[in-house]
Amino acid sequence: MRRNIAVIGGDGIGPEVVAGAQAVLETAAPGALRFTAFDWGAERFLRDGVTLPADGLATMRQFDAILFGAVGDPRVPSNRHAAEILLGMRFGLDLYANVRPVRPLLERLCPLKVGGGKVDFVVVRENTEGPYVSMGGRFKPGSGDEVATETDINTYRGVERVQRYAFELARGRRRRLHLVDKANALIHAGALWRRVFAELQSQFPDVTARAMFVDAAAMQMVREPEQFDVIVTNNLFGDILTDLAAALQGGLGMAASGNLHPQREGAAPGGPGLFEPVHGSAPALAGKDQANPMGAMLSGAMMLDQLGMTAEAKRVEQAVTAALAAGECTADVGGTMGTRAVTEAVVRRL
Ligand code: IPM
Ligand code: MG
Repeated sequence: MRRNIAVIGGDGIGPEVVAGAQAVLETAAPGALRFTAFDWGAERFLRDGVTLPADGLATMRQFDAILFGAVGDPRVPSNRHAAEILLGMRFGLDLYANVRPVRPLLERLCPLKVGGGKVDFVVVRENTEGPYVSMGGRFKPGSGDEVATETDINTYRGVERVQRYAFELARGRRRRLHLVDKANALIHAGALWRRVFAELQSQFPDVTARAMFVDAAAMQMVREPEQFDVIVTNNLFGDILTDLAAALQGGLGMAASGNLHPQREGAAPGGPGLFEPVHGSAPALAGKDQANPMGAMLSGAMMLDQLGMTAEAKRVEQAVTAALAAGECTADVGGTMGTRAVTEAVVRRL
């Protein structure tokens, strides 16, 4: 069965890295994927004011998955289009679990002096709530008395489903789950997250579950990352920690993610997952053949996996790893080697 993939390259280096991922996916799964490109991004927004088109979510629901590059452009200082497109899809398609695996493909890519080979965990970031939902406002804007509020939304339903997914994920791995929060200062949200955590713990007695404050977790991630297997956390902490985690993998260019609605896994009748590298649009590098396409390729592998093409997903991951290990491509793209050369090296491996 052929899978229909929506491709949104977006801004900056987005289209280049997505082109690299697409080439690799086509080689790994010949004839299995049909790609349809969409021009959503800053260029279109500046041209006709459209961010996420009115029928955009309905259009995306007809696809099996979305392959996404990055959004963000200095010509749109508010980055309004980026929020409306990317967050619009995360919220609108109810992609509540942002799954970000953290594992350096090669030990030497990890900047830690010790323990680099043992870094292997997954961050499950809540993706539809928190302070990301734009609830709040400004009072007396522009004045010396200005007040701004940004409300942190936490619902029982939202917290329960993402934690349940994390428990299930941990069960299929090393059975260790850390809840990362700030329950010592953000006490209301903290109480809800911890109550749900305790409830689920009794349903998953085989998973060793522990709570950790986010500041401590940031330190532990550098000091002793091997203690982590699965981390579940809220939208904002997940955003911050996964940039730190990406550095452990060898840089932002290496990090992959999948935005999922786990109950619709497979060739999703209820709607597609969205797969994107963790990095941003890096406008300064755009069009220079200097962007690392590996994060996008590995996101493509996550997409294959979610579509049930597990063997093909493995092949992509192995090809990237082998090309790196053999020195056929470098993790430091943009120096001695460009985006296209890295793509060719990985394609050759396949
Ligand atoms: C990410 C990004 C986004 C986020 C931005 C572009 C809104 O940093 O996917 O991690 O904060 O979620
Ligand atoms: Mg981020």
